[in-house]
Amino acid sequence: MVMDKIFEIIKKEKKRQREELAMIPSENFASEAVMRAVGSSLMNKYAEGYPRKRYYQGNVNMDLVESLAQERILKVFGLNEARWGVNVQPYSGSPANLAVYNALLAPGDKMMGMYLPDGGHLTHGWRLDSRPISITSKFYRSEFYHVDRKTRVFNYAAIAKQAKKYRPKIIISGGTAYPRNINHKKLAGIAKKVGAYYLADIAHEAGLVAGGANPSPFPYADVVTFTTHKTFRGPRGAVIVARRDLIDKINFSVFPGLQGGPHLHTIAGIAVAAGELTTASFRRYARQVVKNAQTLAAELKKGGLDIVSGGTDKHLVLVDLRNLKLSGWTVAWALDKAGIIANRNTVPYDTASPYYPSGLRLGTPALTSRGMKVPEMKKIAVWILAVIDHVKKEKMPEGKKAVNRFAKKFRQAVDRDPWLKKLNREVTAFAKKYPLPGI
Ligand SMILES: Cc1ncc(COP(=O)(O)O)c(C=O)c1O
Repeated sequence: MVMDKIFEIIKKEKKRQREELAMIPSENFASEAVMRAVGSSLMNKYAEGYPRKRYYQGNVNMDLVESLAQERILKVFGLNEARWGVNVQPYSGSPANLAVYNALLAPGDKMMGMYLPDGGHLTHGWRLDSRPISITSKFYRSEFYHVDRKTRVFNYAAIAKQAKKYRPKIIISGGTAYPRNINHKKLAGIAKKVGAYYLADIAHEAGLVAGGANPSPFPYADVVTFTTHKTFRGPRGAVIVARRDLIDKINFSVFPGLQGGPHLHTIAGIAVAAGELTTASFRRYARQVVKNAQTLAAELKKGGLDIVSGGTDKHLVLVDLRNLKLSGWTVAWALDKAGIIANRNTVPYDTASPYYPSGLRLGTPALTSRGMKVPEMKKIAVWILAVIDHVKKEKMPEGKKAVNRFAKKFRQAVDRDPWLKKLNREVTAFAKKYPLPGI
């Protein structure tokens, strides 16, 4: 074993992952095979360019890796090579989206994506009023569609009306906290009517689409992007799949437009994950992820929590804590101390800040990868409800100074809290019974 301090930290992190319940919807556990491919000698090689068109010598094996990854991506989604092209080189989801815009838009063109606090993503043109936050809103003009205030799901007629007025060059769907299926047919139709491209960013649900548990955007979208480290269960990376007539522009945008040498070790890991995704056991996994999230949503709802949109079709559950006058920050820290790792999140029409938002986002992909099913979700829901009950008197005050004081005191209090410590021991003993995939 190599003796570097980093390996001590890795050991500690592995222990943490084994002893805690990972409930962040964008996280998962890659398999041993994926990890071995990523940690291989492929990382030593420069391979600028694409298969059979490299700028460096010695790429015979790199060509095989990248071509196999492309083939497997097509197979995963049941796509025909004559209609679709694949780029597996984006370093991650954010550069993948930027590469698509760089290929299809001119600076100053208009994009329309989901409003970030409703559950959209930064790379869909996020800005605060006229202040660009994401670089995408520096290069392009952006406007956002919302979920309906009452139902907290999309009103497609309202989106169509907005698109007709705004006339964007691209309409983007997908996000980080929208728990319901997206109607790709409707959004693609809206885009077509105004002469816009339709980009489906399925970063979160790619694995669920591959496993047949969520609807596929492929019959309708012009371009689909996704990350490979969430429900896809591969290494950190991303893929762009585009209509055949757009792929050359997109390839040129990724390299040489935005990136240099591709990370072939990561691409190898993506290929291995894609191979795993076409198995019957992965299809069972994808369905179980959704069933687990639906169970969790139903149990939390029974316990009195306000579940955004009333439930979920996916791997994630969004809880609105405003009816309890609680902050997502408070609940997330208390859960953390109990060994349940969730994340605080904004909820639709949130008036709180993104750092201290009013929601809690929970996901089931990682727990399902450890073999947890409906009974385990019910048990975890009881714990989550108990933690919320335990902190229900801890109301976040108004004003920056008072919030800072409260946050400091609260963190100290939960660190010492004997009830949370006891629950943590129970959660740890439970979590350790479920094997952690990977090495
Ligand atoms: C919808 C969506 N798009 C893009 C991204 C960006 O991916 P990355 O974090 O790999 O840059 C994410 C990440 O959470 C996402 O949820």
